[in-house]
Amino acid sequence: MAQRNIYDNPSFFSAYRGLKDGDTKQGTVGGGLTHDDLTRILPPLKDTSILDLGCGDGWFSYWAVTCGGAAKVKGLDSSILQIRAAQSTAARLGDDQANRLTYQIADLNTLTPVKNTYHIVFSSLTLHYLRDLKGLMESIFASLKPGGMFYFTVEHPIYTAPTHREVCTHPATTKTAKDGEGRHDAETAAPAADAHWRLNGYWDQGPRTHYWLGHEVEKQHWKMETYVNSLVGTGFELVYMHEWPRVDDGKHKAESWWLPTEVGPTYLMLGARKRED
Ligand SMILES: C[S@@+](CC[C@H](N)C(=O)[O-])C[C@H]1O[C@@H](n2cnc3c(N)ncnc32)[C@H](O)[C@@H]1O
Repeated sequence: MAQRNIYDNPSFFSAYRGLKDGDTKQGTVGGGLTHDDLTRILPPLKDTSILDLGCGDGWFSYWAVTCGGAAKVKGLDSSILQIRAAQSTAARLGDDQANRLTYQIADLNTLTPVKNTYHIVFSSLTLHYLRDLKGLMESIFASLKPGGMFYFTVEHPIYTAPTHREVCTHPATTKTAKDGEGRHDAETAAPAADAHWRLNGYWDQGPRTHYWLGHEVEKQHWKMETYVNSLVGTGFELVYMHEWPRVDDGKHKAESWWLPTEVGPTYLMLGARKRED
């Protein structure tokens, strides 16, 4: 049975659109990356055929055609509201570019691959929603042409692991000083904040339900080795890895469930190549 998609809940979707508008204003896409980051990381998109999995509002597909010069991009997502948003942005394009973009509703948990079709498969912040990671990797592998590339970003396993996401702060140990006669003076150091991430449940893979944008949202926690070994076990060659923190724009109040920039990574990107032999 198809998984219920929270992005089709109108009140969740409207709150999510607010977040995305904030990203657009600060010039970031998909978890704080910029288009310049993507240009540096990804292979040249010109004249390629691309599959965008969990395309959301289609920002990547749109950019791949309008800025990257991709020949054909197909965006798949199981949310009707996301696909409608993507289609309405694409409707602003002239025929030449619009004809190179297709959006379709599809559940990635049961994806049927069109074999040896794409030069590049891209997925931004979607794989941590999927229950059958290995099955999806196999479909992606089959969809790619020999030598084709697969790049994806997810919430980092350190961020997805806890059953309850929380930043903790411990007051620093209170220091006291002794005077010449061995008597303790009053405190000499004010307690300092020592932020750290309450990491638990790392080994326990599977669903996590968190409260986000006013709703209970289910995501999956996969270990780092599961991401890597599902790629390698499928026949991919790992070529790229990047970990990065949430962008602190200084404009938003830090939430208690945000992993602070200085503590650790919130996001992970892996890149892999389908071997030619
Ligand atoms: C955080 S959004 C990312 C959207 C877009 N890639 C971006 O970077 O803005 C996650 C997306 O995954 C989609 N998604 C979740 N589960 C899915 C599934 N089983 N099949 C297809 N899409 C799914 C959601 O509808 C949503 O659009």
